[in-house]
Amino acid sequence: MDANEPGLGTNRPASERLEPPDSFVAQANVADPAVYAAFEENWPGAWERAGDLLEWDRPHERVLGAEDGFRWFQGGRLNACYNCVDRHLADRKNQVALAWEGRNGESRTYTYLELYHEVNEFAAALRELGVEEGDVVTMYMPMIPELPVAMLSCARIGAVHSVVYAGFAADALATRMNAADSAYLLTCDGYYRRGDAVLLKNKADTAAVTVDGDVTSVVVDRLDGYDCSLGADEHDYDELVCAHARERVDPVRRRASDDLFIIYTSGTTGTPKKVTHTTGGYLSYVAWTARAVLDIRPEDTYWCSADVGWITGHSYIVYGPLALGTTTVMYEGAPDHPEKTRIWEIIERNAVDIFYTAPTAIRAFMKWGAEYPADYDLSSLRLLGTVGEPINPRAWEWYHEHVGRGECPVVDTWWQTETGGILVSTLPAVSDMKPGTAGPPLPGISVSVVDDRGGIEAREGGYLVVDRPWPGMPQELCEGRRWANRGDDRSPADPTAWTYPTEDGAFVDKDGYVTILGRVDDVINVSGHRFGTMEIESAIVDVEGVAEAAVVSGDHDVHGKAIYAYVSPEDGHERQDALREGIVAAVKESIGPIARPEAIVFTPEMPKTRSGKIMRRLLADIANGEDLGDLSALRNPEVVGEIESTVEER
Ligand code: WT7
Repeated sequence: MDANEPGLGTNRPASERLEPPDSFVAQANVADPAVYAAFEENWPGAWERAGDLLEWDRPHERVLGAEDGFRWFQGGRLNACYNCVDRHLADRKNQVALAWEGRNGESRTYTYLELYHEVNEFAAALRELGVEEGDVVTMYMPMIPELPVAMLSCARIGAVHSVVYAGFAADALATRMNAADSAYLLTCDGYYRRGDAVLLKNKADTAAVTVDGDVTSVVVDRLDGYDCSLGADEHDYDELVCAHARERVDPVRRRASDDLFIIYTSGTTGTPKKVTHTTGGYLSYVAWTARAVLDIRPEDTYWCSADVGWITGHSYIVYGPLALGTTTVMYEGAPDHPEKTRIWEIIERNAVDIFYTAPTAIRAFMKWGAEYPADYDLSSLRLLGTVGEPINPRAWEWYHEHVGRGECPVVDTWWQTETGGILVSTLPAVSDMKPGTAGPPLPGISVSVVDDRGGIEAREGGYLVVDRPWPGMPQELCEGRRWANRGDDRSPADPTAWTYPTEDGAFVDKDGYVTILGRVDDVINVSGHRFGTMEIESAIVDVEGVAEAAVVSGDHDVHGKAIYAYVSPEDGHERQDALREGIVAAVKESIGPIARPEAIVFTPEMPKTRSGKIMRRLLADIANGEDLGDLSALRNPEVVGEIESTVEER
């Protein structure tokens, strides 16, 4: 595979290597390189170490059962909420579990004891509303503490949560509620984004119209002085919690393989892809990786700046850190509102030990300037992490130097919604860092890079596949039927004859380090958020006056990738301004403002192959100003020059 193909980019890493500092190694959770061999020699048995981080109501019989699909910690029983809350009460009930930073310097903390109370009270309320074990509760919530509280409350009673990112449109919420057959919704009146109120409940109401069946809602009051009237089956969060004050709900014993939550992500089809994570396997996996890779200890203050609405927030704001009994910070606002000092202020004030963010944020910090972090005392930081997209060496180095004082190791963690937790990263106290390269697969994880036919093709770059099951794998892979495995339909019962195609391009260097090149499917990663080109295209072609649309990804300095929409108007609809507005509005309505195209390029015709297929790869090359090479496969090569000049004029 050519690394210049669309979606792959040319983000070659620097050759420089950095050793982890001795001071870090001396105190790290996992510092012995023998951990890799331990997993190789005893696989899957070594995964006991992850399971041992949790408290089980009944121990497992087998680490990995594989008769009827994969069953991690088969026979084991546990409750995720108990593991994240109750079991820490004995040692640290007065330690802060959740340190919430609001948008205007407002803040709220929950100790483990306070979290325990509120989770029990809300769990009792959910029961009263009729929520039973296995029911799906949708949460359409901004970054406020009630969201993790509600997630844990569901886990306590064995209900399955489905969090829908608050930036998604009403349509997207309705689609997800219908797909999950969810009759319960937690939302709030609204929230503030850069000082403006976003009326979330209005969006939820719009969604409710197209949701099949009746919905019981719980509404959190977040906006000051905004009175949102509640309908028949709508309940006020505070009233419910007060009505159940000091009630206790026994944590339900769940099978290790029972669903903990579902989360939807973008795939290559127009509809969202459902990902279901398990109670025992997932929780063990996020606890293990939070400990081994993020080096989290109970006495730490740890901050991951993601949104809880995405998998990063589920795994590394809520479940992983709380399973380890640490203090996890949750920040409601934007990094530059009201000032570009917010991030550094929060780190200083909370004496944050570990900071985990995305390359897009780091590139924005870089643009704002090193004087911002320099003004703050960041000496509490011990480890830095990044996730979501490839990090270019320049951004890596800036982060290491200006945020980490050149002393904190940086872990570049590769994973996906589907993987539940980190699969590829250096262990910060064990391996050298190479800026721009995620690192080797974690102990117990095996990946390879293959060509189109599944042959091994490590050096030149190819498709990254995971070729061994791991505890954080979702139900869809455990059962091995809903997502087709590459190639034939070998039985999932045989772990050696199994691969999970990640849809990322990658190459592996001589030291076994994996460099991620980016998506190879029709998914665009903008600022670490996934969008399917099909979903965006189908919103655009529904606009009156649009004949055809093709969405591709272009490179972007700060966001990594950007959405480029090429549109050919119907005859009589050449008024581009009106059409442009219509397209922006349609994308906002069906997906959300976050999927707004960076560029909308009009063209009388799409470049097509002789068989009539739109040449998307060519459109991506045009977006990136690449050399287009041979156009002889095109039926209409004459349109290419025209499109190129339109793109250049932008
Ligand atoms: C896609 C998954 C993992 C949680 C956030 C995103 C890209 C993720 C890295 C990294 C290069 C990365 C991949 C992957 N990605 N981490 N460290 N280096 N690329 O989860 O929305 O499921 O997206 O994000 O392309 O496939 P997601």
